[in-house]
Amino acid sequence: MRARIIGTGSAHPRMHVTNTELAEFLDTSDEWISTRTGICSRYISTGETNTQLCVEAAKKALESAQMEAEELELIIVATVSPDNYFPNTGCQVQGLLGAKRAAAFEINAACSGFLFALNMAQAYIQAGVYSNALVIGAEILSKMMDWKDRSTCVLFGDGAGAAVVRAEERGMLCFAQHSDGAKGSVLSCRNRMISNHYVNQEYQAAGEPADHTHMEGQEVFRFAVRRVPEVIGELLAQAQMDKDEVDWYVLHQANERILQAVSRRLGIPMEKFPMNLMEYGNTSAASVPILLDEANRRGLLQRGQKVILSGFGAGLTWAGALLEW
Ligand code: ACO
Repeated sequence: MRARIIGTGSAHPRMHVTNTELAEFLDTSDEWISTRTGICSRYISTGETNTQLCVEAAKKALESAQMEAEELELIIVATVSPDNYFPNTGCQVQGLLGAKRAAAFEINAACSGFLFALNMAQAYIQAGVYSNALVIGAEILSKMMDWKDRSTCVLFGDGAGAAVVRAEERGMLCFAQHSDGAKGSVLSCRNRMISNHYVNQEYQAAGEPADHTHMEGQEVFRFAVRRVPEVIGELLAQAQMDKDEVDWYVLHQANERILQAVSRRLGIPMEKFPMNLMEYGNTSAASVPILLDEANRRGLLQRGQKVILSGFGAGLTWAGALLEW
């Protein structure tokens, strides 16, 4: 059996902030941000939590799947920005949905997180362990930014996307996923330092402060434009399909120029790459499921079409899946 997406949903905070509004307190401009990235605005939490956005997206996905929460067997939330160290976001969502039967947990594979979670759901379903799953990608990245660092904070936004998958004859055709931990430092955000009765003050003083996103932009750019075409090629080879047989390429929304470079390298027209980064910025694990939900609700995705999903990001991690919609 295969995991088939039978419902999607998404959610974002109320506050919508344009590039020009950022320029009111940062030394930046709409021209700089939009020409380098394609991003024009993003949603920023003024109190909405990761869990709240997950639950809103999940309810919409369940409604579009015409399923009740009680039927769910598995909940996986991909995020780098949970509300708590524990309990994990999956359990929070399970409790609030009343999905009593579901096992629930959280994973972190940064911007590839939704793909890793979806691929995991496929593996469980293929193995016959579960017959359905709720897979969510959600982020409140705004709390992890240094709002004085114009080179990172302008790129990211908050949001959540969800998909309900069910075991069917048709659905995910194949998947691929990779990691390169040796290059982890190009995109990172540190946790708390070790601090306890036995740690000496020199150690603490020598440590870097926790909590803000650090990115070597050009390294990440080079990584993405190399690895995304590679993983797409891998999926096509596994499925013995030609790139032209794929109807849609739903890719992580980091930067329009990355999407253009992937399109050029593979010789696939940009019309096959739906985009919403203009409105959302980069929402990490949430970007692929939010875009998928929008494409689904707009009627872009038709049953039987072939769709490639791909994510790439911190870790480093990159992943893809080829689906029959
Ligand atoms: N507004 C105005 N000026 C800025 C801003 C800003 N927001 N940010 C940086 N600058 C300045 C820099 O200070 C620098 O000025 P200087 O030349 O006087 O020193 C100049 O602009 C160029 O800075 P670079 O960092 O070299 O800019 P670059 O052309 O590399 O563009 C960008 C930066 C857009 C981040 C690019 O590297 C990129 O697209 N990288 C891809 C990474 C990406 O998209 N990451 C998203 C998250 S990662 C992920 O999702 C996988």
